[in-house]
Amino acid sequence: MTETRTFQALQKSADVVVLGAGPAGLVLGNLLVAAGIDCVVLERATRQHVQTRARAGFLAPNTVRILDRHGLADGLHRHGRTHGTCEFRTEEGSFRLDYGALGRGEQHTVYPQQNLVTDLLARYLDAGGRIRFRTEALAVHDADSTRPYVITGEPDDDRPTRWTARYVAGCDGRHGAARRSLPAATVRHHHDHGVSWLGLLAEAPPSLDAVGYAVHDRGFAGHMTRSPQITRYYLQCPRGTPADAWSDERIWDELDLRMRAVEHGPLRRGRITERGVIDLACDVVEPLRHGSLLLAGDAASLTAPAAAKGANLAILAAESLAGALTEAFARGDDTALDRYSARVLAHIWRSQEFTHWMTGLLHEIPGQEHSGGSFFHASLRRARLRSLRTSRTHQLWFAENYVGV
Ligand code: APR
Repeated sequence: MTETRTFQALQKSADVVVLGAGPAGLVLGNLLVAAGIDCVVLERATRQHVQTRARAGFLAPNTVRILDRHGLADGLHRHGRTHGTCEFRTEEGSFRLDYGALGRGEQHTVYPQQNLVTDLLARYLDAGGRIRFRTEALAVHDADSTRPYVITGEPDDDRPTRWTARYVAGCDGRHGAARRSLPAATVRHHHDHGVSWLGLLAEAPPSLDAVGYAVHDRGFAGHMTRSPQITRYYLQCPRGTPADAWSDERIWDELDLRMRAVEHGPLRRGRITERGVIDLACDVVEPLRHGSLLLAGDAASLTAPAAAKGANLAILAAESLAGALTEAFARGDDTALDRYSARVLAHIWRSQEFTHWMTGLLHEIPGQEHSGGSFFHASLRRARLRSLRTSRTHQLWFAENYVGV
């Protein structure tokens, strides 16, 4: 690393500048350091913030294999729990789908994302990795050259810093600097599912030993275990609902109603510690390589949370990108980097397709009234759920797609 103070800006450099310390940026950082590549991670938030931000928690078997391959899975093996059952609750009764016992018998590992991020960060720092917190990337410049640079705001200095690199990895999410710096001609596919969820974290033990999906006339409700003391719930709400519009009591009453507590038993209530509204939308940027700028994770593609693919795709992309960058530095040729985009996009589109299917399974999609009435759509949804309940082939297909990326 070189560091020169000039009158106007601080000049710094690294072979790879990684933007963002989420799962994508930290897996990539770890793999680059292990390969002996000089890199730095620039993260807008504080260390405390990234280590405590509650996000996803369902890790696919492929994700666990990737983390195992690189010695990054100790924490999740020690504290994570395997999970292989979904329970669907509908007006026609409930049914359980033991997806972990079907097909190849693969299960999820439940491990809160903030714990994984904490592990990845500790490993990165132990290995000598460099990271700057409270450092916001403002823009990526000259990505079409072999000396791209990133301008950042420094936490304790009024002057901007210019980070020069050979490659910049944009792992800074959908609102990050990497996306903002893409050429105008970049293709951005965007789809709004038209539904919103109130995402809740409750200080309450799980109420069922499965992921719970409730399909109800009043809207979808979901139950996902995070730990023996913490449960994540989702409640479909009208678009535009403020996160604090519903009292805790109203939320629990609504969850009881949609999860059909009268038939299946009441939910174990507790204090709601976090809440936020999520508009279910997805997007894909194509391609993922723009000269010296490469995208991974949410910066590359956002998936709606219905099938928990986001963090798994982020880690898959990070491993693929690390391999391609390692080859580029070792051999001085870009062949693997050229292939990176198509390779990862194939996984992204497969996950988008399943997530889209799952979103349709769980919701009444607003706007369907115009194309034949909501009765038509509700009937299709019922037929789809019945098929999932009774058809072994459909269950096998579900299991493969639900745990796969
Ligand atoms: N400069 C520096 N850092 C930035 C900037 C910026 N301009 N903008 C955002 N960041 C940081 C954020 O603070 C965050 O820590 O980039 C990081 C991006 O991390 P994530 O949002 O976790 O994204 P990613 O690593 O791609 O993981 C994606 O994880 O939680 C799941 O479902 C979620 O799909 C998502 C997946």
